[in-house]
Amino acid sequence: MNLTSDFLRFVRSRRSIRKFRTDPLLREDLRRIIEAASWAPSASNRQDWEFVIITSHTTKKKMEDIVRTRWKLILDKSETEVIKEELEKYAKHFDWFSQAPVLIVISAKRPEIFLFKLLGEAAEDVAGTEISAAMAAQNLMLAAHASGIGSCCITGPLVAQETLKELLGLGKRRKIVCLVALGYPAEQPEAPLRKPVEKIAKYVE
Ligand SMILES: Cc1cc2nc3c(=O)[nH]c(=O)nc-3n(C[C@H](O)[C@H](O)[C@H](O)COP(=O)(O)O)c2cc1C
Repeated sequence: MNLTSDFLRFVRSRRSIRKFRTDPLLREDLRRIIEAASWAPSASNRQDWEFVIITSHTTKKKMEDIVRTRWKLILDKSETEVIKEELEKYAKHFDWFSQAPVLIVISAKRPEIFLFKLLGEAAEDVAGTEISAAMAAQNLMLAAHASGIGSCCITGPLVAQETLKELLGLGKRRKIVCLVALGYPAEQPEAPLRKPVEKIAKYVE
């Protein structure tokens, strides 16, 4: 694969997909996609990630209800109409997620307590479990894209982190890093612009 043409074209052509066909995904495809995720780098190769695969409509609906209930509480507490309107707009970014044929909930293990005692706030940065899980998420989405499967990484629903964890039986030591919605695309969104390389990268002597 050639960096300047094939790989870059492939990476650029992945889009966040939020509208899906109803066709189910094959388990063997999902397995391959998770296998690609497992080949992401991770801090000390600890691979402290976990992938919960949800295909059940009932569970997806329960997740949606949990997020809606939590969001309603936040809206009810908002002090001004302007804030409320902004929050309502923001909620549109994740009110669609239960429609995806598959949801993958990616979680990371929180660092051991002794690390917090030793390093304080730096413990999470040093343990790197969340960034490792995020790298796995990117591998997963690119693998899906290579199989013609659309995906979207979503963090909006994490307003209900604790209740979602409870529903999915994830223990106290885990933190949901993101959800990835998967399915065959029913839309072809335009590519959102990227900041030019010259703006986001600099050499420091
Ligand atoms: C960490 C993260 C969180 C995101 N959360 C959401 C979300 O809650 N809802 C949503 O619709 N899209 C979400 N997205 C998708 C972004 O909106 C999308 O990646 C961005 O607009 C660029 O579009 P592209 O992925 O098609 O290049 C998220 C993406 C990332 C990386």
